[in-house]
Amino acid sequence: MAIDFQQDILAPVASDFAAMDKFINEGISSKVALVMAVSKHVIEAGGKRMRPIMCLLAAQACGETDLSKARKLAAVIEMLHTATLVHDDVVDESNLRRGRPTANATWNNQTAVLVGDFLIARSFDLLVDLDNMALLKEFSTGTCEIAEGEVLQLQAQHQPETTEETYLDIIFGKTSRLFQLATEGSAILAGTPEYREALKQYAGHFGNAFQIIDDILDYTSDKETLGKNIGDDLMEGKPTLPLIAALKNTSGADHEIIYKSIATGGLDDLEHVIQIVQNSGALDYSRMRAQEETQQAIDALSILPDSIARNALYHLAELALERIQ
Ligand code: IPE
Ligand code: IPE
Ligand code: MG
Ligand code: MG
Repeated sequence: MAIDFQQDILAPVASDFAAMDKFINEGISSKVALVMAVSKHVIEAGGKRMRPIMCLLAAQACGETDLSKARKLAAVIEMLHTATLVHDDVVDESNLRRGRPTANATWNNQTAVLVGDFLIARSFDLLVDLDNMALLKEFSTGTCEIAEGEVLQLQAQHQPETTEETYLDIIFGKTSRLFQLATEGSAILAGTPEYREALKQYAGHFGNAFQIIDDILDYTSDKETLGKNIGDDLMEGKPTLPLIAALKNTSGADHEIIYKSIATGGLDDLEHVIQIVQNSGALDYSRMRAQEETQQAIDALSILPDSIARNALYHLAELALERIQ
């Protein structure tokens, strides 16, 4: 049966989720008008808000009944996420995000980089208010690893020899680590360290699946559905899983085209690459890997006590997978 987002996922934390927006809006307030304008432009465009929802659900799954602190944490998570997107769009030279022109396209790269920096700094400013040194330490370390993931990705650009193992290191750093902070942070704040590892495992595997799915959609979806341009990864010569698998599964001319596309980037061969990725079984392989990661995420939750919030976390993982079905 299809998962209903409102009922099966959001319902247990709906009021806290609504209240969280207030903290985000306070968070992006600045005496410098340009800082606010740019932050608002990206944040008000919405997005799926997967990370803050996961953060609130994790808090409840730890047995927390008062989510007032978790709300603040959820807002911090979404601000950090938004900052990484603003920076990512500069690096990827993307011009469409959440159905709107990106910050770099609307203003310029310099503005986007500096406002992204502001959002990260402000996130830590808000985190300090939660007055929890263990939390602060986890976020400081985790944020370093996220930055490392992005740099690792930059190094892999135009490198057709990139292995699946390196790809996993990249996506774990740039994407999964932030999901981990969302859940682990909640366990720390709730004072339930016994659930920390399980939630960390869940979020790590969820993040891996989520990024693999995003990388599949870059070849199979359309900009109306995604709110961002497809083909961005090929444009940048990014060796994502669909291409790594296609290289493994092909030889001769097809292999040559994929290899060259990664090495040079650009969209000249997009149609052809999509065809090869589809026909070589590379998409099937990528889908299978996303399914495996999702299953590992779900399995990790078995340590937590049965609760509505835990079930909602299951559903969240299943819903993410529905995007490629
Ligand atoms: C985009 O994240 C970056 C990836 C990790 C793929 P989301 O797909 O969660 O972006 P929004 O927040 O919904 O716009
Ligand atoms: C995810 O990588 C970016 C971050 C985690 C910051 P992508 O480059 O694939 O994300 P999109 O496709 O631009 O959202
Ligand atoms: Mg990008
Ligand atoms: Mg992408």
